[in-house]
Amino acid sequence: MDRVSVKPKHQDRVSVLQLTDMHLFGNDDERLLGVDTAASFQAVLDAIMQEGRDIDIVLATGDLSQDYSYDSYKRFAKMIKQLQKPVFWLPGNHDDGPLMRRIMPDFGVSIARNIICGKWQFIMLNTQVYSVPHGWILPNELDYTKQCIDDNPDLYTVVCLHHNTFPVNSAWLDQHELKNKEELLGLVYQKKNVKLILCGHVHQEHDFTRDGIRYISSPSTSIQFEPLSFNFGLDAAGPGWRYLTLDNSGLIETEVHRIDFERFVPDFAVGGY
Ligand SMILES: [Fe+2]
Repeated sequence: MDRVSVKPKHQDRVSVLQLTDMHLFGNDDERLLGVDTAASFQAVLDAIMQEGRDIDIVLATGDLSQDYSYDSYKRFAKMIKQLQKPVFWLPGNHDDGPLMRRIMPDFGVSIARNIICGKWQFIMLNTQVYSVPHGWILPNELDYTKQCIDDNPDLYTVVCLHHNTFPVNSAWLDQHELKNKEELLGLVYQKKNVKLILCGHVHQEHDFTRDGIRYISSPSTSIQFEPLSFNFGLDAAGPGWRYLTLDNSGLIETEVHRIDFERFVPDFAVGGY
C-alpha cells in the first residue's frame, strides 16, 4: 500500500506545507516564460525556513519538473532537503511519474502514497495522462483511494491530486481539469471522513466548501496564471506556498503566503504555456 506513518509534533493537530508546480529544469540555463524556476523555488524555501512554522509533512502536488528530466528531479530532491521534513509527492502533467518512482528513493525522497499523521491520512493520487495536459483517474487509483479510506475509517482523509476537480472559470485552463472527476467525487461523497481535496495545476489559489468537502488549490512556486481569463494569461502575483493546520476535530485552517512578485517577473508577452 506504500503506506507510512509520521508522528505529528503536536498531539492535537497536523501541520502541512503544500508546495506545487515548481516546474524545475535539469539545466541551469533554462527558463519558464522568463522565470528561473529554481531561483523562485529557492526563494520560496528561504522564506519558509525564515518563517520557521511547524511543519509535520510536505506535500508536493505535481509538476515538480518542466522537462521530465532525471536532473530536474535530482534538483528537486536536493533543494527540498533543506527543509529537513518528510516529503511526499504525486506526478503532474509535466512529470514523468514512472521515472520519479524509480529514482526518488535514490535521492532520499519517499515514494509512499498513503501517509498517516495523527488523526489524518493523506492519499497521493496519480491523475496524469501521458503527454496531455488534462487529467484522468484510472480504476486502479479509485480502488487505491477506496482501500485507503476503508482501511482507516477513524481518520480524516485528504485526497491529493494534481488536476483540479472544479472549474476555475478560465476556459483555456478548465479544459485541462480532471476529465472524469465525477468518478472520484462519486466515490468520496460516499465516504464521510473525506474532508479535503487538495490540488495544484491551476497556478492560483481557490478555497471553497461544497457538500461538506473542502476544495483547495494553491499558487505555484514559479509562474501564476491569471484568474478568470478566457485565454492563456499570466498573473502579477508572486510565487507562493500554502500552510494547512488540520485539527483533531476535523477542522482545517489554511493560509497562502507569497514572495514579492517583482523578484520573478515572467514574460507577459508570451501567448501560451
Ligand atoms: Fe503546472
